[in-house]
Amino acid sequence: MPMNRVVRLVKRPAPGLVSPDCFEIRDETVPEPGEGEFRVRAQFVSLDPAMRGWVNDGRSYVPPVGLGDVMRAFSAGTVEASRHPDFHEGDAVVGLFGAQTHAISDGKGVQRADTSIAPLQTWIGGLGMPGLTAYFGLLRVAEAKEGDTVVVSAASGAVGSIVGQIARIKGCRAVGIAGGPEKCRALVEEDGFDTAVDYKAGNLAGDLAAACPNGIDVDFENVGGPILDAVLPLMNPFGRIAVCGLISSYTATTPPPGPANLRFLLTMRLKMQGFIVFDFARENPIALADLSQWIVQEKLRFREDVRDGGIDAFPETLNLLYTGGNFGKLSLRV
Ligand SMILES: NC(=O)c1ccc[n+]([C@@H]2O[C@H](COP(=O)([O-])OP(=O)(O)OC[C@H]3O[C@@H](n4cnc5c(N)ncnc54)[C@H](OP(=O)(O)O)[C@@H]3O)[C@@H](O)[C@H]2O)c1
Repeated sequence: MPMNRVVRLVKRPAPGLVSPDCFEIRDETVPEPGEGEFRVRAQFVSLDPAMRGWVNDGRSYVPPVGLGDVMRAFSAGTVEASRHPDFHEGDAVVGLFGAQTHAISDGKGVQRADTSIAPLQTWIGGLGMPGLTAYFGLLRVAEAKEGDTVVVSAASGAVGSIVGQIARIKGCRAVGIAGGPEKCRALVEEDGFDTAVDYKAGNLAGDLAAACPNGIDVDFENVGGPILDAVLPLMNPFGRIAVCGLISSYTATTPPPGPANLRFLLTMRLKMQGFIVFDFARENPIALADLSQWIVQEKLRFREDVRDGGIDAFPETLNLLYTGGNFGKLSLRV
């Protein structure tokens, strides 16, 4: 008899990477849908940097995952039993179904995955939360426009790679920051960035200045810390910084220092705004129409890092995000 393989949070992690004993992974009875519900068999579970924040007990944009609860996660799968009028057996869907193989949903917040446009796993990546984040962060928050120099950090990842490609589609100059020569090579040769800077090469400030001879108009900030400090002095007057993520601090074991170069916010009259992708949920159909069209036109491609190992590999796979061990949108085939 099939069982539901589930990841539950059982302990709050200490600062740093999440130790595997924070999670309990076990078999549970496959749940039956009630009236107005359906059951999804997940095929791909998404691993996202935000998970490090979700397991902390603190004030944020969503409540923390409760101790004993199924770990919060997006996944993509197929409806296998339904008592919901609008969802039928065989429908491909994406939602916050949790880190488990079988989940019950009432359909709220569930996105249909059109696999004629892109394969199922892409709907938790380029056509899912990361793609929407790139789209809204760049075009709505940072208001990137033709001719801008756009810098994006964590550029080879799920969000960053799409930011650079949309920047190019919109006529901007795209400069990526990533760790290591192979990721930087791929940004230029495969994703079409104008240039890429390896922040691990030891000369970030100089290399970034050389990569941005006309300064920076838009910074899509995924990392924070020393990377933001290198970007700030290069920002052009009235530049915009979209704070999407601060991954360099997520696993810090001591409180990270504030940006040393914040004075450029004042002297260059910069606008800096944090955002959460869910803020734009009502506009998702517009973004998905654009992203889908760019796929069809072969202007946009997605790098996916799909790992095997099933649900049991969840804890160690999650930590790859904070050590640069992933290359593209990270997910688990379950
Ligand atoms: N605001 C929102 O609504 C929203 C939504 C989705 C994601 N995000 C944020 O967007 C960012 C990227 O997320 P993603 O899903 O696309 O992840 P990702 O970029 O696919 O993976 C994370 C990457 O971050 C880089 N990284 C990790 N630690 C670093 C450090 N200390 N310094 C520099 N780079 C580091 C690594 O690449 P390297 O090998 O290049 O170091 C790693 O591969 C994260 O900050 C995430 O929290 C925000």
